[in-house]
Amino acid sequence: MSTRIADHRLHRRVTSAEEAAALITHGMTVGMSGFTGSGYPKAVPTALGKRIEAEHAAGRPMRVKIWTGASTGPELDGALAKADGIELRLPYNSDPIARERINRGEMDYLDMHLSQVAPMAWQGFLGPLDVAVIEVTGITADGSLVPSSSVGNNKTWLDHAQGVILEVNRWQNPALEGMHDIYYGTALPPHRVPIPLVRPDDRIGQPTFRCDLDRIIAIVETDAPDRNLPFTPPDETARGIAAHLLDFLEHEVGKGRLPASLLPIQSGVGNIANAVLAGLADGPFHDMTAYTEVIQDGMLDLLDSGRLRVASATAFSLSPDAALRINAEMARYRDRLILRPQEISNHPELIRRLGCIAMNGLIEADIYGNVNSTCVMGSRVQNGIGGSGDFARNAYISIFMTPSTAKGGAISAIVPQVAHVDHIMQDVAVLVTEQGLADMRGLSPRKRAALVIENCAHPAYRDVLRDYFDRAMAGAYGRHAPSLPAEALSWHQRFMDTGTMRA
Ligand code: COA
Repeated sequence: MSTRIADHRLHRRVTSAEEAAALITHGMTVGMSGFTGSGYPKAVPTALGKRIEAEHAAGRPMRVKIWTGASTGPELDGALAKADGIELRLPYNSDPIARERINRGEMDYLDMHLSQVAPMAWQGFLGPLDVAVIEVTGITADGSLVPSSSVGNNKTWLDHAQGVILEVNRWQNPALEGMHDIYYGTALPPHRVPIPLVRPDDRIGQPTFRCDLDRIIAIVETDAPDRNLPFTPPDETARGIAAHLLDFLEHEVGKGRLPASLLPIQSGVGNIANAVLAGLADGPFHDMTAYTEVIQDGMLDLLDSGRLRVASATAFSLSPDAALRINAEMARYRDRLILRPQEISNHPELIRRLGCIAMNGLIEADIYGNVNSTCVMGSRVQNGIGGSGDFARNAYISIFMTPSTAKGGAISAIVPQVAHVDHIMQDVAVLVTEQGLADMRGLSPRKRAALVIENCAHPAYRDVLRDYFDRAMAGAYGRHAPSLPAEALSWHQRFMDTGTMRA
């Protein structure tokens, strides 16, 4: 028996992935661990996918509802989506097979603010949770569960589900024990109290999950790596965005609006966010902290360089190389990294209190600074809103960044009007592209538009944006945020009709 299961009472629950998957039946709601490709169960979902395929081949229906922390890996979302086994998915997905099914209308997808998932589950708004399938690093002698490389919603799934299946993954480094801070003090209104966290490195909870042993219905042992895609190395565009952002932060320090060590940084998902972190490693800031959602490669580099003192998040989101690197040296990082439940890492109260500097990617922004983070051409979901809304609305400075064009220049990331809104202009303070930066704080919509067009739009689209704005100023129904409704989304229509937004 594995030494990772120190509680002998649980040894008789150890079983195969196939037998554990057989406990999940058609129509069930399953809460799985997993957040940005780390800490997700690897064996049970794969076995479940095979069973679903066999059931379908035999002409029997079998689909389940899947709740997680955020995105997972190919063994979970990929395997279940391939088998057409997911009826509903929440709250975030980046798996390409699942994305295709969602966009073909074959699978329901509930794209949610990540901080709100656990409270909504407790409020009963999402319905009952039948089974939790949670990856852990180990089980201590007193039956406590040592979390894995992500925390996500695991505390809530473990408390809330009728039955619990554990995957004990030997690949996860036992030195993870002690890195987590699991806070059990959240409650529903009217019983909520302030969360006692005032600095990014405060520890307010306990290092392990608790779980009523009677509800543990199966334990599966695994030895499998987390799987994430490598980040694209920063190119000239990404380096340009990072340079503008660094200039801005230096300027804010110079003006006395930010301390020299900045305020806790939050860095979103994706290649651009990772590139900005790489830029910070060469910047003038020291003794920085991060209060963020995920630890990417760039965050590790900042820790290694000594620029970043401590980082609090809910999960790792590392390239395969960086995952191997941190796994080999976990003990070295343990005191400088804290992984928390996502209802705490993304909590509006804490983001507002700490004064985070939020830096997130986007799909498109309009001339007024409204941001679409999720839906290409207004309807094809890319990933989801993730934590960007949690951070953007509550940040000290809310920054969004993007290359000024997509798809080889055929798409302008700055458009007359976004085709879908995730972040309203009031939640977007600064917009950055490789062309420049628009600091929109304190500006009316008309002034924002002029700045965004001049500073952020690609030169190939600048004149047509100016022309649109001038005509909107002349002919709009109102001049507060002038728009020409019949034309505002015509760029998107042109792209769908011709493959380019260019006239
Ligand atoms: N129109 C069409 N497609 C676009 C586009 C646009 N305006 N902007 C980007 N895309 C496409 C890219 O072409 C790319 O597609 P591909 O994979 O087929 O090449 C894809 O979207 C990703 O874009 P990329 O430029 O590589 O950016 P990224 O890796 O920095 O990710 C987001 C950008 C918006 C997709 C990503 O930041 C995201 O999912 N954000 C929402 C969640 C979030 O912010 N979480 C942070 C919480 S803490």
